[in-house]
Amino acid sequence: MMERSKIVDILIAPKLGNDVNIKGWVRTKRGSKELSFVAINDGSCIHNMQVVVDHSLFDAEMLKDITTGAAVSIIGKLTESQGRGQSVEIQASAIEIYGKADPNSYPLQKKGHSMEFLREIAHLRPRTNTFGAVFRIRHNMAYAIHKFFHDRGFFYFHTPLITASDAEGAGAMFEVTTLDLNNPPRTKEGGVDYSQDFFGRRTNLTVSGQLEGELAATALGAIYTFGPTFRAENSNTPRHLAEFWMIEPEVAFYEIKENMDLAEEFIKYLVQWALDNCKDDLTFLNERIDKGLIERLESVVKKDFIRLSYTEGIKILEKAVADGHQFEYPVYWGVDLASEHERYLVENHFQCPVILTDYPTEIKAFYMKQNEDGKTVRAMDVLFPKIGEIIGGSQREESLEKLISRCKEVGIPLSEMDWYLDTRRFGSVPHSGFGLGFERLLLFVTGMGNIRDVIPFPRTPNNANF
Ligand code: 4AD
Ligand code: MG
Repeated sequence: MMERSKIVDILIAPKLGNDVNIKGWVRTKRGSKELSFVAINDGSCIHNMQVVVDHSLFDAEMLKDITTGAAVSIIGKLTESQGRGQSVEIQASAIEIYGKADPNSYPLQKKGHSMEFLREIAHLRPRTNTFGAVFRIRHNMAYAIHKFFHDRGFFYFHTPLITASDAEGAGAMFEVTTLDLNNPPRTKEGGVDYSQDFFGRRTNLTVSGQLEGELAATALGAIYTFGPTFRAENSNTPRHLAEFWMIEPEVAFYEIKENMDLAEEFIKYLVQWALDNCKDDLTFLNERIDKGLIERLESVVKKDFIRLSYTEGIKILEKAVADGHQFEYPVYWGVDLASEHERYLVENHFQCPVILTDYPTEIKAFYMKQNEDGKTVRAMDVLFPKIGEIIGGSQREESLEKLISRCKEVGIPLSEMDWYLDTRRFGSVPHSGFGLGFERLLLFVTGMGNIRDVIPFPRTPNNANF
């Protein structure tokens, strides 16, 4: 038996004249009475391998089963291609069909499909060129993230998915329970008796690994998490998922300036990694999905991100309104910025990524370091073209007293936060961190327009198929 070659490897160093064996799925078949040209894709790269099939060499019945979507093994000589569109091709000498794909029912025929239709068949869409490219890039970004941190001495730390705490204080959480929802045990007061639930208390899927990440950072020095997070907010936008992946570095002895430097270096590293290692997929996406993609990626790597305070940002937005720019949502000091505001700063005003700092205390999480002015906290959001917020982070409040008083102000029960407060009780240090939304990064790097199209199986309100 011959060893199978991946198409990506054949194309990197084609050995003309040698016999090769490829295995993959038929994308298209065209030809004449005597010859067929079959394009095979094996998922290893965006490129298909053209296979030339001389009908006189094969059983006519078998040839009928070579249709779009069928899985095949092809053996044949690798030759220079006469046709346009490919440099090499295979002259088939043996063909085996692993699995047929009935042309009357296989949904991915040649014609271009809408993204909406492909979402309905998300179980098959990885077989399209676009989604193949997106998911190869997704893998590459995950790999680059681990490499970036590993090379800098950060440790990958695993935080729990099931938790009793609400890190962001947002309250938009999915409950985890084994109680019978039709007939839950009751307390004397008539509420649900969670002491009889699986964990003996009420639990949720995590919205962030940060709080546990802080415990690790104050022991290992520098850590990062990289895992799924869950938010039950009813946001039907092209930038929100109910289940998304987040990368959260957390570093002891970092203040906000170093945190911003890390965030900027991190994103630039990832974008440069994509440019260096995903060239063929990016070229495809640049042609088919977003003509400005590669130029935008190159420009982000080159430019220093603008850094300015929320207060200065609001002034710019207020001036825009005074000059006649219309936003859907109002602009005033204290408002939680909408993505239209963030994008105005990035796309219209600065034409460059922006790191906005020092947000009003009221609109940010309880753990952020309080500024001397008494009304802002040392938050930092990184805002990106086409996306808006891609990173949210801060320097953390290291003072036990200040943290406790903030918990009380916003109504976080201290009894539940005791374990977290221990970081401030024992050997507290200035520390900082941030969260990068993995799918938001992928929106930027792939040029895709909807976050549902950069994760294999999106979870959004009313949708948990597959
Ligand atoms: O700004 P967020 O809520 O920050 C945190 O969760 C902090 N605990 C991070 C930290 O400091 N360690 O979320 C961080 C990032 C956002 O900037 C955004 O990119 C992404 O997570 N994100 C979402 N991505 C997809 N769908 C959603 N519903 C998202 N919510 C946040
Ligand atoms: Mg945020």
